Amino acid sequence: MRESLSGVVLAGGTGSRLYPLTKVTNKHLLPVGQYPMIYHPLMRLRETGITRVAVVTSPEHMGDVVNLLGSGSGLGLDLTYRVQDEPGGIAQALGLCENFARGHPFLVVLGDNILGNSIAHEVNQFQNQKEGARILLKEVPDPDQYGVPRFRGDQIVEIIEKPSSPPSQYAVTGLYFYDSQVFDFISSLSPSRRGEYEVSDLNSAYVQQSMLTYGILDGWWGDAGTLDGWHQANHLARHLTYPALEGQASASP
Ligand code: DAU
Repeated sequence: MRESLSGVVLAGGTGSRLYPLTKVTNKHLLPVGQYPMIYHPLMRLRETGITRVAVVTSPEHMGDVVNLLGSGSGLGLDLTYRVQDEPGGIAQALGLCENFARGHPFLVVLGDNILGNSIAHEVNQFQNQKEGARILLKEVPDPDQYGVPRFRGDQIVEIIEKPSSPPSQYAVTGLYFYDSQVFDFISSLSPSRRGEYEVSDLNSAYVQQSMLTYGILDGWWGDAGTLDGWHQANHLARHLTYPALEGQASASP
């Protein structure tokens, strides 16, 4: 699959776990380190050469997100926007990007995921894969807060969303590589008990077709979607800068 990838950054949802910080603004506009949260996933895409990116957000916050990012040209990106009318889950938000993807593979990054290292190596790994999807795992102390893989030997046999008894110590991080079959899988999903189209069900659908590979993410990783996670991400990212943003932090008006 030696095609150049596009990117998708998902920035919808309600941000309810950060309320009242998110009462009048979108979670992804809150600061993390020296930048608004959403800059981090965008810059991790940019530094791998992925510049064509779709940003999905809610109707309430689309105006603010566009005010911040514009066309993307100031960040070296070519941005497209999609509105998710209701927060119906990560897989639903992704389904809005079918026309954007134009039948090509792409990389999704959740808008609240902050990464300590470049993901260039992971992009290369996926480009060597003929078809299917690829996820990245990280060992964590609290897997019940995430999507968690169940293994048989070294094979993933299922991914369970926020299990009360986690079958492994690994979290599925919010970076997902998909081929264009993803949209067929999305249309076959049903909402979960909490009423969302779950990304873990989507990834399990790839598992059932033996088309999911995985890697272990290098370096630190943070999910800034909870108060503890946001504080921790701010601490970890306090010195983080990106070449494309040189000169844009604090000194600029
Ligand atoms: O961070 C990794 C985890 O992210 C994974 O381990 C889980 O499997 C995955 O479900 C997700 O869990 P969270 O509880 O962190 O999901 P959250 O509702 O915070 O949504 C994550 C991002 O996805 C959020 O920053 C915005 C976007 N999103 C979410 C929903 C529910 C949307 O764009 N639309 C939505 O409807």
